[in-house]
Amino acid sequence: MDIIEHDRLLIIDFGSQVTQLIARRLREQNVYCEIHPYQNVTDDVLAQIAPKAVILSGGPDSVTREGSPRAPESLWTMGIPVLGICYGQQTMMQQLGGEVHGGKNTGGGGTAEFGRAYVTPTEDRIDLLAGWFLEKKEQVWMSHGDHVAKLAPGFEVYGTSPNAPYAITADLERNFYAVQFHPEVHHTPNGSTLYENFVRLAGFSGDWTMAGYKDDAIARIREQVGDKQVICGLSGGVDSSVTAALLHEAIGDQLTCVFVDHGLLRLDEGADVVAMFRDNMNLKVIHADEADLFLGELEGQSDPETKRKIIGKLFIDVFQKYANEIEGAEFLAQGTLYPDVIESVSFSGGPSVTIKSHHNVGGLPEKMGLKLVEPLRELFKDEVRVLGHELGLPASFIGRHPFPGPGLAIRCPGEITREKLDILREADAVYIDQIRKHGLYDEIWQAFVAILPVRTVGVMGDGRTYDFACALRAVTSVDGMTADYYPFTHEFLGETATRIINEVPGINRVTYDITSKPPGTIEWE
Ligand code: XMP
Repeated sequence: MDIIEHDRLLIIDFGSQVTQLIARRLREQNVYCEIHPYQNVTDDVLAQIAPKAVILSGGPDSVTREGSPRAPESLWTMGIPVLGICYGQQTMMQQLGGEVHGGKNTGGGGTAEFGRAYVTPTEDRIDLLAGWFLEKKEQVWMSHGDHVAKLAPGFEVYGTSPNAPYAITADLERNFYAVQFHPEVHHTPNGSTLYENFVRLAGFSGDWTMAGYKDDAIARIREQVGDKQVICGLSGGVDSSVTAALLHEAIGDQLTCVFVDHGLLRLDEGADVVAMFRDNMNLKVIHADEADLFLGELEGQSDPETKRKIIGKLFIDVFQKYANEIEGAEFLAQGTLYPDVIESVSFSGGPSVTIKSHHNVGGLPEKMGLKLVEPLRELFKDEVRVLGHELGLPASFIGRHPFPGPGLAIRCPGEITREKLDILREADAVYIDQIRKHGLYDEIWQAFVAILPVRTVGVMGDGRTYDFACALRAVTSVDGMTADYYPFTHEFLGETATRIINEVPGINRVTYDITSKPPGTIEWE
């Protein structure tokens, strides 16, 4: 069943690192798009998707290699606009009768070009380039080894760079466009304009708005669920909160949320989440207070992976126990996002090393015989936040820093005790209060305190203290995959350390963690 009725743009993914950015740029134009790996886009699938336009992404392969990826042949006769980017440009040229020569890495000598370059226009201006070349040349980002050596019949050149004489080409009759550079990346500052022009000339009306999405999603949920019961694990994070609020709007009382309180939450967090959803929004929320169970099982454990595994397993057991009490539950709602759904094209194969066992409830639906409802599957994180606003969730809640499933357990290296958790909660609350007071909360991606498994000697008043040391962490990041420490002023750090030591009994030393990721990770365990 397919309920997305918007015009759709198909991105055929040839494995570029930045394909998701193409989707971002299009969503900014209120255009609905889907990314599909090239292997899946057969002629039949293409006909089924029936896109209004297609973009061919970049990719790491060389079209000069036998057996390298291609666009489906039927694409060229569908009569729809096509934009090829980098590898996409090259396969387009080759498939339509042009020539591509290998670069250094593929034995052709060639004109490899990586990084910043400048494109200048030829004489004719085309609609795709409206708003371009106002300053004569445009900065673009190149990343190619191969290059187009001969254009396919019907194509003309509209922009060149020193190493890419065919930087921008088009067959205006067929509405085919091809660029050698990456307009989706930040380092092509005017790149968004190019996408804007492409979707305009392809006839998209820009009707993909969050208000519209909300109405569609509600209709879809109602159709999928009918009069059955749905359960939803509420963590208090943005994704599960927006999922719950959306389902509530769609099916009201047929939704029951389970909030598992493992005793590893921040100060007042459990009460705040339940108060908001149960008292203010009238959702049915089961507050599963299982702190004794979790903290009991964690007693004496200090190995990070053991702690994570205990929490992960108990979480599933507890969720299942409460869910089983909800009569007639047939569906499980999850806040899965688009980046989790996209099948990425893997050229290297090979499993990657497990750095940390992340919370994973992936197997739960089959185990419990439940069907999944995943109303955020088409959305990126920032779109989820916009949807949260549409649903009336408070901004302070939607903009909260991410909080990991295992909670404070991974901010308490070594053994976890209730005493340490209490100290940590107090210190964290003071730290976050400081960050908010200085207006820095939204600039920082994530900030927290970790309580260290070490006591140090201090002097307060005239007395000796022997208390815990803690570390402050604050990072900037886009997606949590890489991160840098936040450059607080010394003044801020000094003031915060003083407040924590004065206001939090049990801590007499404060340090600031200035490790980036990599080589560190964001959390301490
Ligand atoms: P690391 O420590 O791996 O963290 O650099 C990256 C981001 O992921 C969060 N994190 C988790 N989130 N379950 C979660 O839901 C987990 O098990 C988990 N471990 C880490 C972390 O807070 C950071 O935002």
